[in-house]
Amino acid sequence: MKVERKVKMAEEFTSEEKTGLYKAIHSRRDVRSHFTSRLIEDEILSKILNAAHHAPSVGFSQPWNFILIKDSQTKARIKESFEKEKESSSQLIEDPKRSKYLSFKLEGILESPVNLCVTYDPSKFGPFVIGRSSIPEAGLYSVCCAIQNLWLAARTEGVGLGWVSILSNDVLKEVLNLPNHVIPVAYLCLGYVDEFATKPDLETAGWLPRLGLKDVIFFEKWEDKENLSWKNIQNIIKTNPDYA
Ligand SMILES: Cc1cc2nc3c(=O)[nH]c(=O)nc-3n(C[C@H](O)[C@H](O)[C@H](O)COP(=O)(O)O)c2cc1C
Repeated sequence: MKVERKVKMAEEFTSEEKTGLYKAIHSRRDVRSHFTSRLIEDEILSKILNAAHHAPSVGFSQPWNFILIKDSQTKARIKESFEKEKESSSQLIEDPKRSKYLSFKLEGILESPVNLCVTYDPSKFGPFVIGRSSIPEAGLYSVCCAIQNLWLAARTEGVGLGWVSILSNDVLKEVLNLPNHVIPVAYLCLGYVDEFATKPDLETAGWLPRLGLKDVIFFEKWEDKENLSWKNIQNIIKTNPDYA
């Protein structure tokens, strides 16, 4: 019997749609201040979460869960963990770097209306997942893809998102009742903001510079920047000021 398969024709993006996608990518920021008092409408929050849920995942394992948090006591316990971890991580560097690090605003846990913990559950759909046997981390990478989708969708909706990784995973597990095998991957703060900075805050503060595109691309082998079979793209990357 002939099996009929309907294949959806590749849909082209209009130039306006393409512009929209690149705008979201380039204007996305990690946000930890400038949250307004406006609450995120549940319809918008659902849309953003659905964008995350449509990320690629190894073997279609969809190993993520999203824990929505607004309880102020929960937030206060997470903030306490942040303060502790920030202080202990500051011991790893010396002044003047240490004071500079301590002066940065690196979370918006209490100011943002919604906190969201994105978790990784390696047990979903059982132990065998296509593509995860040789590289077990592929499960975690999938969760990061979901987080990036979420980040871009949030930006598109005018919702700021800040990722807080200066936290104890043990505290997160305890406070959020996570089963032992579930890993908290990201703790995110979400809310409408009155501005998105044009550059990363850490770039503006002179902490680290953005690298040029040419500094991060190799051809054929590690550290080969001059390979002759890639001459044209090398010229484009070197000469176009957008990629400096
Ligand atoms: C995995 C991950 C963890 C991060 N953790 C923190 C954090 O704890 N606190 C913070 O202020 N920003 C955190 N950030 C945000 C980065 O500092 C930020 O993405 C980077 O400086 C570039 O800025 P941009 O996101 O605005 O482009 C984190 C980002 C990622 C991807």
